[in-house]
Amino acid sequence: MSAKMVGQGAIKFLCLLVTFFGGVTSLRDVMLLVQPATVIRGGTAALICSRDMQGAPLYSVKWYRGNHEFYRYTPMEDPDTRVFGLPGIYVDMNRSNGTQVLLRRLDLTLAGNFSCEVTADSPSFATQIATKFIDVIALPPLAPVLKADKDRYQPGEVLQANCTSSPARPAANLTIYINEEPLRATETSLHPSESGLLWTSVKADVKVTPELFLSGRLRVACLSTVYDVYRSSANLDFFTPDTDPRPERITLNSASKCFQSWILLLLLFLLPVVMGQDYIVPLLDYEDYEERIQDQTAFASLVGG
Ligand SMILES: *[C@@H]1O[C@H](CO)[C@@H](O)[C@H](O)[C@H]1NC(C)=O
Ligand SMILES: *[C@@H]1O[C@H](CO)[C@@H](O)[C@H](O)[C@H]1NC(C)=O
Ligand SMILES: *[C@@H]1O[C@H](CO)[C@@H](O)[C@H](O)[C@H]1NC(C)=O
Ligand SMILES: *[C@@H]1O[C@H](CO)[C@@H](O)[C@H](O)[C@H]1NC(C)=O
Ligand SMILES: *[C@@H]1O[C@H](CO)[C@@H](O)[C@H](O)[C@H]1NC(C)=O
Repeated sequence: MSAKMVGQGAIKFLCLLVTFFGGVTSLRDVMLLVQPATVIRGGTAALICSRDMQGAPLYSVKWYRGNHEFYRYTPMEDPDTRVFGLPGIYVDMNRSNGTQVLLRRLDLTLAGNFSCEVTADSPSFATQIATKFIDVIALPPLAPVLKADKDRYQPGEVLQANCTSSPARPAANLTIYINEEPLRATETSLHPSESGLLWTSVKADVKVTPELFLSGRLRVACLSTVYDVYRSSANLDFFTPDTDPRPERITLNSASKCFQSWILLLLLFLLPVVMGQDYIVPLLDYEDYEERIQDQTAFASLVGG
C-alpha cells in the first residue's frame, strides 16, 4: 500500500465524517408550507419554510419558482434580504423574513413548483431543499344562473332545469337540488371560455308530481362550489296549480298595463283639445296596441314640450 493511497483513504474518510455529522447535527426537516392552502387569483399567500437547524447557525434561505430564485435571506449580510425581479412575483418586503415570504396579487400564470433552500453556516454548509407545487385558482365572478323551461307546471309534466356557472379554474361543480335533495341524474358539460377558464352547465329533467309541492311550493336550486372556498346558489320556486298565487311580477305588469291604457284613453280624448283642431280618434287593433302606446307617448311629450 503506497502512501498516496493511504492519503486518499484518509480524505475519503474525512469527507464521510463531515457529511455524516453535517447531516445529523445541523439542519433537517426542511418543509415548505403554504397559507392559505388554496391560493386564489389576485390574493395573497404566505410561503413558510420551516426547518430544524439543530442549533447550527443559518447561512441563507433561498426561494425559487421553478429554477429562478426570487428572494434570498442572508442574516450575515447587509441588507439581509434581496429580491430578484421575476415577472408576476410581488414580494411584500414588510412581511417577508428568514422564515416566510409573502406574495401578493398572485396570478394564474404563477402556478408551479416553489422551493425553499436552507443552507447552514460553516463548518457544515449543509443544504436542504423543499419543493411544493402551488396551484392558483380563479373563482367564478358571478352567481350561477338557473333557468326552467316554463313558469308553471302541472303534475305529470316534465320540468327542464338548466344551470350555468361563470368561468372559473378549475371549473365550478354544479349540483341541482329539488326541495333540498341533490339530484343524481344530471348531465354536466364543460365549456372553454376565451380567458382560458372553464364554465360549467348542468341540465336535469324532473317529472313533476303533486308530492313535490311541499306545503304548496316546489323549490329548484342550483349550488355552485369550488373546493371549500366558494359557494353560491340560485333558486326558483313553483307553486301548486290549485293554490294559484300568481307571481308578484306578473301582477305588477298587468297593473301598469291598466294604468298605461287609462293614460292612453285620457290622451286620446284630450289631444284634439290641446291641438285646437279636429282629431280623428283611431280605432286600435289589439296587435299594434303596444306600438301605439309608444307612439302616443312620444307624441304627447312633443306636445307637452
Ligand atoms: C412597508 O412599510 C413601509 C414603512 O413602514 C411603508 O411605507 C410601505 O408602504 C410598506 N409597504 C407595503 C407593501 O406594505
Ligand atoms: C417573519 O414574519 C412573520 C410575519 O410577519 C412573523 O410572524 C414571524 O415571526 C417572522 N419571523 C422571524 C424569524 O422574524
Ligand atoms: C413540479 O415538480 C414535480 C416533481 O418534481 C414535477 O413532476 C412537475 O412536472 C413539476 N411541475 C412543473 C409545473 O414544473
Ligand atoms: C341552458 O342555458 C344556456 C345558457 O343560458 C343555453 O346556452 C343553453 O341553450 C340552455 N340549454 C337548454 C337545454 O335549455
Ligand atoms: C368537484 O367534485 C369532485 C367530487 O366531489 C371533487 O373531487 C372535486 O375536487 C370538486 N371540484 C371542485 C373544483 O370543487
